[in-house]
Amino acid sequence: MRRIALLLVAVVTLAGVVVSMAPSSGHADGEAAPIFGVKIPPRYRDWRLISVAHEEGNLNDLRAILGNDVAIKAYREGKRPFPDGAIIARLAWSYVPSEENNKAFGRPQSFVAGPPTNGVQFMVKDSRKYASTGGWGFAQFNDGKPADEAVHNTCFSCHERVKDRDFVFTHYAP
Ligand code: HEC
Repeated sequence: MRRIALLLVAVVTLAGVVVSMAPSSGHADGEAAPIFGVKIPPRYRDWRLISVAHEEGNLNDLRAILGNDVAIKAYREGKRPFPDGAIIARLAWSYVPSEENNKAFGRPQSFVAGPPTNGVQFMVKDSRKYASTGGWGFAQFNDGKPADEAVHNTCFSCHERVKDRDFVFTHYAP
């Protein structure tokens, strides 16, 4: 009897540990962004690379644009508009000189990714749900937390400039 009771305690404790670990495994339970209700897609950091970009001015960052499988397939096949289920992510890091690399090159020329900055942005294709914004839902997260509504009101009006490319600026880098 006592052994069964001990075993039960062990199982319950283990279950508690597993439950308490769950949220750290991909942010899937995180808060939804305003207006479009997009959540951080699980494992987006493992998606494949579409291209990179560098913004100067106030943004001053290095960025990578990644796509989930549906987005990558559409890019490689030149399929537009993007099919439902396509998600494109924009990651950004501060643009910092690398002393270590400069020493190797023997002159100041090297810049690398510093800490993350300017949030992580997503465009999620769902032609019915987001019909009024070209079929795309937009979201920005700063340190894992959704940016406010005012920020989300700026996305579509700027991306509308590339309406003829299904509202997506980035070209696939071969
Ligand atoms: C002032 C114009 C402007 C605004 C506002 C803007 N974007 Fe963009 N976005 C761009 C440009 C230009 C690029 C491509 C170059 C780059 O990544 O810097 C881009 C790239 C992206 C990408 C990669 C796919 C693509 O279109 O190239 C995503 C995802 C994205 N933006 C999401 C958002 C979200 C979400 C918001 C609102 C929170 C937003 N953007 C607001 C101009 C804008």
